[in-house]
Amino acid sequence: MKSLKDRNFLTLKDFSPDEIRLFLDLAASFKKLKKFRIPHDGLRGRNIALIFEKTSTRTRCSFEVAAHDLGMQTTYLDPQASQLGKKESIADTASVLGRMFDGIEYRGFEQARVECLAKYAGVPVWNGLTNEYHPTQILADMLTVREYFGEEKGRKFVYMGDARYNMGNSLMIGCAKLGLHFTACAPEKYYPDAGLVEECKAWAQESGGSITLTEDALEAARDADVIYTDVWVSMGEPDEVWEERIRELNPYKVTIELMNRASENAIFMHCLPAFHDYETEIGKKMGERFDFRDLEVTDEVFQKYRKPVFDEAENRMHTIKAVMAATLGYEIIAR
Ligand code: CP
Ligand code: NVA
Repeated sequence: MKSLKDRNFLTLKDFSPDEIRLFLDLAASFKKLKKFRIPHDGLRGRNIALIFEKTSTRTRCSFEVAAHDLGMQTTYLDPQASQLGKKESIADTASVLGRMFDGIEYRGFEQARVECLAKYAGVPVWNGLTNEYHPTQILADMLTVREYFGEEKGRKFVYMGDARYNMGNSLMIGCAKLGLHFTACAPEKYYPDAGLVEECKAWAQESGGSITLTEDALEAARDADVIYTDVWVSMGEPDEVWEERIRELNPYKVTIELMNRASENAIFMHCLPAFHDYETEIGKKMGERFDFRDLEVTDEVFQKYRKPVFDEAENRMHTIKAVMAATLGYEIIAR
């Protein structure tokens, strides 16, 4: 296994199954330390920059809390208040930040932007979500699966909805590398990129997992251990796509009927934020416009499976801590 120190964390494609499992082991150890309030601030004196070109609750808070627990200082850069993109290129910004900070988190648009940042920064760069990938989310999801089922390998993991965007792509990669049986369930036009599917099939073959693409929601849900969904319209997409998305993805809404087809101990998961009622501006607006009470998941399912969904959200912080600690060379490895 290559050392994780000084590595970028841009997509799980770059990490071996053992390396991904090491992040998970480390996260589980940090979770215990935090629970028992045992200090783990061995990165005192370090500084990290957090660049957010899109909004965030979980990812930003996870990076900030995890950094502070590790003893580090954070600087938040929102693109409205910085020169990034408008007056200064990503490459030049990366060169500046790399002189001041020990690590940089980036959330934004194309994967090429975070790759450019990594190329010029000279310090570890962590992907906090791009259009194509959301790798820190997948670590949290896999830690949650491990907590509920003892081991992630061998589980049937079904993703419903827009499978060609960051969450569908990244879950497929994570499942393929860790030996889960991954199903992307959506209309064919929402299947992940064919080239990525082929890469994942090869990894799945090595890990004992499998990749299935299907349009049949009832069949996909059968005996699933995890049914997962995400919003139907992602950040940065235009409002005009809502109507078509709702029409095309509504058959893939996670309902109690679907959950009842899953295995006895199945859990529902969602990266969040979720539209499951009228308590959000967008959920209410789209619900009223298209005559729905909910969008990608019913409120009934969401409330019934709140516990795993919010365990998953908490695990964002522990897994992001593991990524920063490992790539910045934290000395204490999993106990
Ligand atoms: N799941 C996730 O990335 O949440 P935020 O958009 O709130 O960071
Ligand atoms: N696909 C969603 C994920 C949010 C965590 C988005 O990009 O908005």
